[in-house]
Amino acid sequence: MAAAGEPPDQPGDAITASERKAAGLPRREFLRSGLGAAGAAVLGPGIDPAAAAESQPNLPPNVPEWTRNLGDGVASRPYGVPSRFENGVIRRTVSWLTPTDTTAVSFAPLQDLYGVVTPSGLAFERYHAGAPTIDPAAHRLMIHGLVERPRLLTVADVMRFPSVTRTAFIECAANGSTEWRGAQMPGLQFTHGMLSCSEWTGVALSTLLNEVGVKAGAEWILAEGADAAAMSRSVPLAKALDDALVVYAQNGERLRPEQGYPLRLLLPGWEGNINVKWLRRLKLGDQPWNGREETDRYTDLMPDGLARQFTWVMEAKSVITFPCPEKPLAAPGSYEVSGLAWSGNGKISRVDVSFDGGNNWRSASLQAPVQSKCLTRFRIDWHWPGTGALLQSRAIDETGYVQPTITQLRAVRGVNSIYHNNAIQTWRVSPSGQVENVQLA
Ligand code: CO
Repeated sequence: MAAAGEPPDQPGDAITASERKAAGLPRREFLRSGLGAAGAAVLGPGIDPAAAAESQPNLPPNVPEWTRNLGDGVASRPYGVPSRFENGVIRRTVSWLTPTDTTAVSFAPLQDLYGVVTPSGLAFERYHAGAPTIDPAAHRLMIHGLVERPRLLTVADVMRFPSVTRTAFIECAANGSTEWRGAQMPGLQFTHGMLSCSEWTGVALSTLLNEVGVKAGAEWILAEGADAAAMSRSVPLAKALDDALVVYAQNGERLRPEQGYPLRLLLPGWEGNINVKWLRRLKLGDQPWNGREETDRYTDLMPDGLARQFTWVMEAKSVITFPCPEKPLAAPGSYEVSGLAWSGNGKISRVDVSFDGGNNWRSASLQAPVQSKCLTRFRIDWHWPGTGALLQSRAIDETGYVQPTITQLRAVRGVNSIYHNNAIQTWRVSPSGQVENVQLA
């Protein structure tokens, strides 16, 4: 165990209650009234503009060069891209998690995102055989099996049906998989970045099933992608009829190739893998297909050697996105601590935040609208006195489910599963303001 203020020793490093006390971390976070903070300067003393002008020709009172010259014309930018000063806001990969570029995963930069929508170009990616380049004119969606009227639908056919738009998160079942045995990854992008949230537009799967006519006895649907892995999963008919969509648009435009262009299955709140991309086939049957992705993979190995199968729902989870290892604290003072909470079982009803490793909790405010199976942004004010702190967030959803600690999760599930780690995340803030990924014993 490292001394106070030092980085954690090794993956799996943990802080015990006594070590927390020895490190001088506060036992109790005193509540402050909102009125007490009102009128206080957030940014400290003002700057001296005259001093700045001498060294920085673009700072006031000088007129900056971008004000003295014309800007770019519209013709140079038929499709907008972010400012070049934001070129560090990118998806990132982890070499040892990425055996080949086409059986890969990329992580979304949650530390650089605002609100709840993930820009399409930053949504995490997971491929089993690369992202295919599909000509939509030559793509078909076949619906067959236990149906009255099998169909081979064009993309245009799908788009003729009444459309539905909703916002929903997609989280890979393996998000947080590296953290089962101890704190391992160096930042938020890698501990939680297999998570994205988009506005999706498509047609209700129930509408398409009504068109083909489901035969008696049908209970399951095989959903298959057109990628080189023919990635497929078995979907229970009940979910298909509940809130499943076949989507063709994301964040106001057609799906990106890496997100399933031209058609993707969307099962709100369910693990990413079953939201089959490049959707080419839906076959109705009376039992699951037990394919590779629901037997060898995407099952959860328990301590007794048995595996949980068909664990689709991503249960309530949250994480503080500021501060985080990538976004340390600059100096003691007032901050807005912010983060994301989500539940595959419905709406987030409350998020609690602790600054002392879970001894004391305060409820954060939730950004409206709070939507079902969607990311919810939470915020809470914090005056950081410049001492060590242990930040945590804990999500509670509308079913009453409370996000567990990693200790509680391990007690039930052991550490052999890759999937469904929805444990409370701890960020250790050191007196210097640096933030580290740790786990508490
Ligand atoms: Co699962």
